[in-house]
Amino acid sequence: MRQVNLGLIGGGTVGGGVLKALERNGVLMASRLGVEFRVARVAVRDLKKKRTVKLSRKVLTTSWEDVVNDPAVEVVIEMMGGTTTARKVVLVALRLGKPVVTANKALISKYGEELFEAAEKHGANLYYEASVAGGIPIIKVLREGLIGNRVTRLYGILNGTCNYILTRMKREGKDFPEILDDAQRLGYAEAEPSLDVDGYDALHKAGILASLAHGFWVNPDEAYLEGIRGITQLDIQFAEQLGYTIKLLGIVKKHENGGDKCAPIELSVCPTLVPNTHVLASVNDVFNAVLVRGDVVGDTLYYGRGAGQDATASAVLSDLADAALDLKCDSKNRVPPFVPHEREGAVVEPGETVSPYYVRLSVVDRPGTLAQIATILGKAKIGISSVIQPEGHEGESVPLILMIHDAPMADLEQALGKITKLGVIKGQPVMFRVENFE
Ligand code: NAP
Ligand code: HSE
Repeated sequence: MRQVNLGLIGGGTVGGGVLKALERNGVLMASRLGVEFRVARVAVRDLKKKRTVKLSRKVLTTSWEDVVNDPAVEVVIEMMGGTTTARKVVLVALRLGKPVVTANKALISKYGEELFEAAEKHGANLYYEASVAGGIPIIKVLREGLIGNRVTRLYGILNGTCNYILTRMKREGKDFPEILDDAQRLGYAEAEPSLDVDGYDALHKAGILASLAHGFWVNPDEAYLEGIRGITQLDIQFAEQLGYTIKLLGIVKKHENGGDKCAPIELSVCPTLVPNTHVLASVNDVFNAVLVRGDVVGDTLYYGRGAGQDATASAVLSDLADAALDLKCDSKNRVPPFVPHEREGAVVEPGETVSPYYVRLSVVDRPGTLAQIATILGKAKIGISSVIQPEGHEGESVPLILMIHDAPMADLEQALGKITKLGVIKGQPVMFRVENFE
């Protein structure tokens, strides 16, 4: 049987998970693929650290160069994280013509264009299934399964840590710092928690999916980004009263203006009110889900664990199978890593994004307050679809919840700026997008 020698850089949560999964299902994979995997080299930072999978000292090294440059290593698996050294690792391996498997969404998001060019130039494939949505094979879906479709909408719950925190906040009425500790302990969160809770991780993933779906390299810096730190129990409870659940949602929409080809796309990652009747509202805990709408297929939905050792290892094994089959069949780049197919693509300015919104104001409970607010919104041509002012709130100010009809984000922000200056308003307004999945 053909043997494929693997070189891993990183043996932490994900790298360790890959080693464990290979121990568990390596024989099964060999019987399915006709290829046997052998772990030839593994680089880690600390040789003395206790590992769940026993590796001989001959296999272990602290130098990633030892792994990548080892002539025996045929597939390089980058599981170290970060972007500086990881970029070097991937480029050196690709230049040597070695296929690379990575779970590193920050790396693909930041240097993807350069890495895919290098892969093409050197005829070596770059596999990144584990970089988006953990165990869900969403990269394969977009690259292969839905190849005959134009993607018109893509909605994703893409960060397991945020979804875990929001689920427990809603279920247990707790605030988010307390739950973040648990997510870190369970190995879901990134080493730097800001990557998760401030939405960067979800944006990296949404940007990769947007690029794949729309065929041009989408710069995530052009997207609208907001994390989950600003979500309070008050908003979770008001959203529930209105029939919604707050999720951190990645949204990729193809606009219809300008004809099909040159229409821009919208890319945002932000807390979003999802109707409780929609399937994405019931995606809970560390689970991710991606809804992809294709012009031929209609709506399709993918669901699975979005973070954690085993889910991510499963995605890496899928990439290893593809890499091994390419080697076995001598069919380099059978499925190219990323093929730009739109000559020009553009991302809509975040302020121009049109959507319904949830707005919470803190107001002085006195006659005429609502009229003053409605006048400013009316002048800005922003319509109110419903208002709630709960009874029984004590103190100087009370919450006032406005559900806003479709409005451009910049117009709403400007109107809220004026509303904040009214004498009857206390504190800063809160606004969240509402998505009806049309
Ligand atoms: P981790 O637990 O911190 O593991 C990192 C590993 O890389 C460790 O084994 C570390 O060695 C090794 N390492 C770091 N710098 C090194 C260097 N310069 N030379 C050699 N080895 C080095 O991180 P992780 O959670 O597994 O994440 C790895 C990647 O997977 C990241 O890109 C992350 O975004 C991605 N990812 C993670 C998850 C998840 O649920 N955790 C899910 C999907 C994708 P030591 O063990 O000796 O410290
Ligand atoms: N920290 C990430 C998450 C890991 O919570 O989704 C998976 O990419």
